Amino acid sequence: MKRKMILASSNPNKLREFREILEPLGCEVISQKEAGIDIDPEENGSTFEENSAIKARAVYNIAKCAVIADDSGLEVDALGGEPGVYSARYCGTRDDKAHNDAVLKKLEGVPDSERTARFVAAITYIDDSGRESHFIGKFEGRIGYEERGKNGFGYDPIFMVGDVSSAEMSPEEKNAVSHRGKALRELARFISENH
Ligand code: IMP
Repeated sequence: MKRKMILASSNPNKLREFREILEPLGCEVISQKEAGIDIDPEENGSTFEENSAIKARAVYNIAKCAVIADDSGLEVDALGGEPGVYSARYCGTRDDKAHNDAVLKKLEGVPDSERTARFVAAITYIDDSGRESHFIGKFEGRIGYEERGKNGFGYDPIFMVGDVSSAEMSPEEKNAVSHRGKALRELARFISENH
C-alpha cells in the first residue's frame, strides 16, 4: 500500500516537484486542498526552517498523518540577508518584477565580489507518529546587473551562477543544483531509509 502524505501547500508547481521525487519511493502526495484542509497559518517565524515547521505542524494537528511543508527564499549578503523570509512579500508587494528591481537598485555601485547571494529551501517532514525532521538546501550565486532569462520564477532572472542566470537554466539543470532540489533529495533519502 502507498504511504499517504499531505503537502502543506496549494502551489501546483510544488505539488508536481514533490510528486516527481516521492512517488517513485511508494509515496502518495496529496495537496492540502485535496485533503480538505483549508488553513493558511501566519508565517511569523524568523527563519525558513521555523516557517516550514509552522505550516507542517498546522496541517499535522488537523490531519494526524504524515505531512511535508517547505519554505524558501533569497538571502543577499550585501543586504544583511534580505529579502530572506520576506522574499515572497518583499517591499510590501508580491510582484516579482518589483522585487528584482528593488534588489538591483539597492545593489547599485556594489562590486561583483560583494554581490554574493543564495537561495535557501527548508523542508519539514512530520511522520504519522508526529516525529519531526528538517532538511535544508542551499544554492549559491551572486546578484547580476539586469534581469536575464525567461525560465523559472521569482528572483531567478537576477540570480547568476557563473555566466548564466537561473532563469536561463532549463528546469532539469536548475533542479540538479537548486536549493529545493537538494532539500528534496535529502527528504527522499530520509524517507527511503526510515520506512
Ligand atoms: P515560498 O517558499 O513559496 O514561501 O516562496 C518564497 C519566495 O522566495 C518565492 O515567492 C520567490 O520570490 C523566492 N524563491 C524561492 N525559491 C526560488 C527560486 O528557485 N527562484 C526564484 N525565486 C525563489
